[in-house]
Amino acid sequence: MTEAIEHDDLWWRQAVTYQVYIRSFADGDGDGTGDLAGLRSRLGYLRDLGVDALWINPWYESPLNDGGYDVANYRAIDRRYGDLAGAEALISDAHDLGLKVLADLVPNHTSSEHAWFREAISAAPGDASRDRYYFRSGRGPDGTEPPNNWQSVFGGPAWTRIDDGDWYLHLFDVSQPDLNWDHPEVRADFLDIFRFWFDRGIDGFRVDVAHGLSKDPSLPDLAAGVPAFGIEQDGSHPYWDRDEVHEIIREWRSVADSYAGKVMVAEAWVSPERLPMYLKSDQYHQSFDFDFLTAPWTAAARRPLIERAIQLIDSNAAMPTWVLSNHDVIRHATRFALAPENQPTGINASVVDDDLDQHVGLNRARAAAMLMLALPGSVYLYQGEELGLREVTDLPPEVLDDPIWERTGHKIKGRDGCRVPIPWTRSGPAFGFGEAAPWLPQPSDFADFSVEAQTGVAGSTLELYRSALALRRAHLSAGSTFAWIDMGDDVIAFERGGITNVTNFGDEPVELPNGTILLTSGPSDGHTVGTDVTAWIQTPS
Ligand code: NOJ
Repeated sequence: MTEAIEHDDLWWRQAVTYQVYIRSFADGDGDGTGDLAGLRSRLGYLRDLGVDALWINPWYESPLNDGGYDVANYRAIDRRYGDLAGAEALISDAHDLGLKVLADLVPNHTSSEHAWFREAISAAPGDASRDRYYFRSGRGPDGTEPPNNWQSVFGGPAWTRIDDGDWYLHLFDVSQPDLNWDHPEVRADFLDIFRFWFDRGIDGFRVDVAHGLSKDPSLPDLAAGVPAFGIEQDGSHPYWDRDEVHEIIREWRSVADSYAGKVMVAEAWVSPERLPMYLKSDQYHQSFDFDFLTAPWTAAARRPLIERAIQLIDSNAAMPTWVLSNHDVIRHATRFALAPENQPTGINASVVDDDLDQHVGLNRARAAAMLMLALPGSVYLYQGEELGLREVTDLPPEVLDDPIWERTGHKIKGRDGCRVPIPWTRSGPAFGFGEAAPWLPQPSDFADFSVEAQTGVAGSTLELYRSALALRRAHLSAGSTFAWIDMGDDVIAFERGGITNVTNFGDEPVELPNGTILLTSGPSDGHTVGTDVTAWIQTPS
């Protein structure tokens, strides 16, 4: 293997990957839903932004009950997004522009429209086709009670009864039956799905609910005090983060390793003590650092997380994978608009408009991104964060699409507010997203956040991201060494690759070290930065 190829195989270690929520990125065929044609037409934008790769949320055939995380056919593209030929063309165009493409694999559950589930429910109780899922009899004299007390992540019981009396397990929506990963056909089929997409040029996968899959075979009740969604530290939870899952990951990794340069990134909501198990060299290449995502905007909360990631690099060569927003959480420009003690975390969070200071939120969002982009490891950006987009907190109930809204009996609005289509232009239909009314309405102030409104405007969030990505590419590499600089409790400061990074979380201005200021996320007099500002300074060696 030549040095160049070897280096390319490790591309992911320092990559910036842009998350495309395909439904909301760009609508090429004018039906109000984003699609492959729209994304293809905007690839130049992503190349010019300066990212290395795209991760595209599920694009498979799906009833879209959970935004495509309910897959009916893993080998077909949903007709609303395009077709297989379109996906291959997209991968090829992206590669021509030097961009890698990651798809999203959903192995914990299928859609209830999947051929396996249809076969299972049209068969009789006890039929072998039901063994690919979790079908059980109910409890109580006539089986009218669910088989155990597990709850769905989206609200309500995790079991639904079908007409013939059997119950099936769905840790998410009723339309997302959980697969039985002890079944050999399930195991074999996913190995084949990996190959199917690798053979079409996909560079890797983000793996959904990577800490799920394996269940305690006796399906015991959740003991009192054990949280339904919490993070246990010893692998004893009946359905999250069980030790058996690692054997499955190793099988997948061996398929990935039979190709060159493929990457698998885990969506694993597990404790920091257990996360390194997922990052062993025969398992995932990356796992999102969700603690960094959920941490409030304080130096005290963030410094130890960076410290921990550095120790991980030192101890087992796993690179950190930083992220501030995704399609499941409130956009960070809005989370940070609240006082640190009120900043919501997790997928079932809501915010109330009245408490928000969006100006403060945007300043912090910019500072946070400039801090993240200087850290060792890879970075995932969520579409629209480079525009400084806020969460749309006031979507009217009649447009809400997230199953969380219905399953919580209209108590929690869910995640639609971070999925509102991207504004490309200041005016025109759907602010350039497409010709038709978009599947979620955009607020009028999205005009000012549009790509058009920010392009070429000094100090805009878009130009700040473009500058930072260009500087990162020019100065930082996976091997750049990291050294802390002590500038007091309210400042996170470090030196990496000849750049000193200073983030001021405090109320007082902070004196910058000598050197050339390469960028600041907010105002600076050339010697100091104020509250909620990050600076990158090239320090004389
Ligand atoms: C995590 C995905 O990111 C989320 O959008 C989805 O609802 C759940 N997994 C279930 O697949």
